[in-house]
Amino acid sequence: MKKVALIGVGYIGQIHASALSQIKNAQLVAVVDNLEDRGRKMAESINAKYFKNVDELLRNTDADCVDICVPTFAHPETAIKAANAGKHVLCEKPLALSLQDADEMIKAAKANNIKAMTGHVLRFWPEYMKIKELIDSGYLGTPIHAFCERLAVTPDWQVANWDKSEKFSGGAAIDLHIHDLDLLIWLFGRPEIVKAQGVFDPDNPKEGGFAHIFTTAQFKNGRSGFAEGGWAFKGAFPFTMALRILCEKGTVEWIFRAGKNIEERGQAANIKIYNKDGSVDTIEAKQTDAFFNELTYFIDCIEKNKPIEKATFEDGRASLEFALAAIKSAKEQSVVKL
Ligand SMILES: NC(=O)c1ccc[n+]([C@@H]2O[C@H](COP(=O)([O-])OP(=O)(O)OC[C@H]3O[C@@H](n4cnc5c(N)ncnc54)[C@H](O)[C@@H]3O)[C@@H](O)[C@H]2O)c1
Repeated sequence: MKKVALIGVGYIGQIHASALSQIKNAQLVAVVDNLEDRGRKMAESINAKYFKNVDELLRNTDADCVDICVPTFAHPETAIKAANAGKHVLCEKPLALSLQDADEMIKAAKANNIKAMTGHVLRFWPEYMKIKELIDSGYLGTPIHAFCERLAVTPDWQVANWDKSEKFSGGAAIDLHIHDLDLLIWLFGRPEIVKAQGVFDPDNPKEGGFAHIFTTAQFKNGRSGFAEGGWAFKGAFPFTMALRILCEKGTVEWIFRAGKNIEERGQAANIKIYNKDGSVDTIEAKQTDAFFNELTYFIDCIEKNKPIEKATFEDGRASLEFALAAIKSAKEQSVVKL
């Protein structure tokens, strides 16, 4: 049994709390949130201790690990403090907003010999895992090009609208688009050439950063990728995720459209394989919650003392590097070589 302290119980923190409650070898013993009413309410509902900030937590807790779900600008400080206190760390994506901060986080994790993971949840998402498995099996031959999409209405739940400021969230290019940039890296490795174009937040063009961005990238062995992501959609526009991979012997495609954001992620949408011979296969991914899978993996690695190999801090840094390259390219209208 591993004891967990959850830091930040806003939108994603509540999803993590619910996932953790279903993991047999995890016990949520502490909750931290600087909104006292919110933090205490969550702590009381699960019989955990409440702490107002991470310093208070680290002085008083016997938790084995922390699950960091605070806004992105607070990831580095929170993760480094927890690592220096010897706690294993799962930090929500994006790992940080600068490569210097990401490097400091990696350094602190190494120096303290703790297990460190970034919440790149697509690596634990049933359909994405199934498609990755299919590509790795070689069934469709060599993959040539991947297309990914992540479209959403403007999020409206964040405390003090921290996500609407590029300084605090990185804008949609870092906050949202990074999911698909991580996915492209997972499929094809580190990009070599990045070219992007973006649309500044129409509601906050001076400070919001890109609210919509489309990035093309070239990878080793001539593979290419395109990702489009944005949160400038309005009204009833459904949350949309798509992945289409063109391969030597056919194409695999998955399109999910439902809900406002990821709340309706449990709704199944089948994966289609369009084979070279004209036949079409439909495959289903076993429905397990992606956040449950992610947290189960983290807790198991701690309990069995296994290295974190999926969604490491280094993976978090790589996707941030990719997102920063896309922003640079879009802002300067340039091609960025990595
Ligand atoms: N994996 C995903 O699909 C996914 C989805 C949404 C958000 N996220 C990420 O999760 C993080 C949080 O996003 P959110 O939408 O839940 O934000 P949010 O504003 O809904 O919640 C953040 C919570 O942290 C608290 N908080 C802020 N600073 C704190 C601090 N220093 N110490 C303690 N508590 C603090 C706030 O009071 C709030 O309750 C972001 O990095 C975001 O990018 C990931």
